[in-house]
Amino acid sequence: MASKEPIIITEKDEMRKWTRTMRAQGHTIGFVPTMGYLHEGHLSLIQEAYKHADIIVVSIYVNPGQFSPNEDLSTYPSDFEGDFQKLKSVGNGVDVVFCPNNLYDYGNSQTGNGSERNQEKVVSCVEDKRMGHETWVRVENLEKGLCGKSRPVFFRGVATVVTKLFNIVEPDVAVFGKKDYQQWKIIQRMVRDLDFGITVIGSEIVREVDGLAMSSRNVKLSPENRQRALSISRALSISKFQAEKGQVNCRELINPAIQLISEAGGTVDYAEIVEQESLEPVETIERPVVFCVAAWFGEVRLVDNMEIRIN
Ligand code: PAJ
Repeated sequence: MASKEPIIITEKDEMRKWTRTMRAQGHTIGFVPTMGYLHEGHLSLIQEAYKHADIIVVSIYVNPGQFSPNEDLSTYPSDFEGDFQKLKSVGNGVDVVFCPNNLYDYGNSQTGNGSERNQEKVVSCVEDKRMGHETWVRVENLEKGLCGKSRPVFFRGVATVVTKLFNIVEPDVAVFGKKDYQQWKIIQRMVRDLDFGITVIGSEIVREVDGLAMSSRNVKLSPENRQRALSISRALSISKFQAEKGQVNCRELINPAIQLISEAGGTVDYAEIVEQESLEPVETIERPVVFCVAAWFGEVRLVDNMEIRIN
């Protein structure tokens, strides 16, 4: 397989300048934002991006703005060397790896020992007055349900960092995984509502051979929980099969799915069948829907989903 050495860019200004130079030369820019610890799921987005653009930028940035203080920011896995090797050899190799040191550093943060921080008010890792960041993007309805219920600042953090990345990278096309279905729909809506000149593409979920949806967090599962977590994709597949065979009553699909995952040792955060655009729960399947699940196995929270279309 051909490989090329991607350029590593860490500065916002340099990134923007690079894109503008490339566009002036007639290139189209495809963009794949990630938090690193790359797997086949991420690489499939790059392959997809190549169908729509001739130059590819991948960002690696673990965004503190989308983690609550009690979440796993400090233990989020990383392996820059491994990621770089993968980016070198996927397809024709990507052109740029954008790894900003700190996207929220505006060069004005005052040093402090943190003791003045009012823990009550800290609702995300960057909500710290010393950082001087106070602008957030919210997609008000789509962010409320599903993952938004148990992660109240998550989508605000995602929409804001993706806006920042879009403004810095200025791509023509950006690719997101359907694995994080709500995230994809939120970014699509944000791009429409705020008139970004960017086409957002949703790319299919990549699974391990046994069905587990690939995720950077899978590495944190114990071998037992890795096995038990298969109940999520099994439950979704069974529901999809039943629905396509004629079971359109959502309760009759959701209850057995919850039971299967719970019996395997998972703690279900939510299991909902929602309409594909509004993400509103439905009682009966009449239009294309998506069955979304989030469940804990040990300390690891996994999300997965399957689209269901009936004729
Ligand atoms: P991260 O979890 O690294 O995921 C980066 C992209 O890869 C997302 O679009 C995600 O949906 C996609 N992805 C992850 N696993 C996948 C799989 N098994 N199949 C297909 N696509 C998959 O999502 C984020 O980072 C962040 O929230 C980010 C958008 C970068 C903003 O910080």
